[in-house]
Amino acid sequence: MSKTLIRGAKVLGGEALDVLVDGETVAAVGAGLDADGARVVEAEGQILLPGLVDLHTHLREPGREDSETVLTGTRAAASGGYTAVHAMANTFPVADTAGVVEQVWRLGRESGYCDVQPVGAVTVGLEGKQLAELGAMHDSAASVRVFSDDGKCVDDAVIMRRALEYVKAFDGVIAQHAQEPRLTEGAQMNEGTVSAELGLGGWPAVAEESIIARDVLLAAHVGSRVHICHLSTAGSVEIVRWAKSKGWNVTAEVTPHHLLLTDELVRSYDPVYKVNPPLRTEADVTALREALADGTIDCVATDHAPHPHEDKDCEWGAAAMGMVGLETALSVVQHTMVETGLLDWAGVADRMSFRPAAIGRLAGHGRPVSAGEPANLVLVDPSYRGAVDSARFASRSRNTPYQGRELPGRVTHTFLRGRATVMDGKLV
Ligand code: DOR
Ligand code: ZN
Repeated sequence: MSKTLIRGAKVLGGEALDVLVDGETVAAVGAGLDADGARVVEAEGQILLPGLVDLHTHLREPGREDSETVLTGTRAAASGGYTAVHAMANTFPVADTAGVVEQVWRLGRESGYCDVQPVGAVTVGLEGKQLAELGAMHDSAASVRVFSDDGKCVDDAVIMRRALEYVKAFDGVIAQHAQEPRLTEGAQMNEGTVSAELGLGGWPAVAEESIIARDVLLAAHVGSRVHICHLSTAGSVEIVRWAKSKGWNVTAEVTPHHLLLTDELVRSYDPVYKVNPPLRTEADVTALREALADGTIDCVATDHAPHPHEDKDCEWGAAAMGMVGLETALSVVQHTMVETGLLDWAGVADRMSFRPAAIGRLAGHGRPVSAGEPANLVLVDPSYRGAVDSARFASRSRNTPYQGRELPGRVTHTFLRGRATVMDGKLV
């Protein structure tokens, strides 16, 4: 395999250095490295980060290939600077058996754009009634370590307790979609002044917070790991902060859209803003940004939720929930966290690569940029400014809330084990 010399990039936003990639590995990091026949990527002014890792991606295959496939989703991931994604289990059929997770894992291997780590369902059919074959999924070729009924909450406390007990044996983690079902029946958006004015069913913060409170207590009781998906309220932040202060094994993620958008946007009745959990208030956005900055929230996860045009181009009440996110995540984080001074680029590497890889116990990703490490890398041009154009997305779906909006930064190159998946801003 060929050599690549990345010349003059600011490694994790720090010193400008050269990085020599030989085959699948970083061979050397230093000043004034000899090109010695290597292909040279001039990266002056650009930021070099470890390849991004997403803990929360909906790839839709099997079953909803009209929204996304493993191939189109991993192409979108590479475009966004990701080298590994965790594929959520709410497919058709549900990824609740060794057979289905192995199928997704195999499709990921064939794609070649990004590693795909399947997430297994916690319960059979995401029905919340009976534990799925967690052990068999872990022991399968996909070696599943993250389990989630995402899209639905594991609301039965006994099932949640048993799941936490079960995965403890192999250091697995339950990723909870925290949504008390009775409190959110018929809910259409955040419960607050905007929902009252619009007359739409509200989704109270307490529906999220009560489940998080219960689950951190259960995780502590069992001595197991729980991960909270897509935190969206200031109160959720307080509970996670408290659980961490106790030394409990609790981690949490926030989506890019919850770092930027608020429920005021629902006044447009544009279903592109319909998402689960819902967009909240300005005060929530501020709390989430601060929590990501101080490490209370461990990582950014996209909740990339592709939907076909017909499921979004309809009236608010009938529209599907979710938005695509892989191709805009890094730009939104630059805008909301870096350009506000809340996080430096080393912090971005931590929250978008090191920590999500560690939570997923993912080998070969979220590694330092240093000699001997797998060459999973992304180069970002932070000076770029441009309007988001969903027509250029690699994703099969177009349901972005940022269409036409100017966001900073652009992924120019992504390397998966030394092979460029994106070069000069284009998929290879
Ligand atoms: O908005 C969402 N969409 N939230 C979820 O939890 C699931 C996701 C989906 O699968 O579409
Ligand atoms: Zn979810």
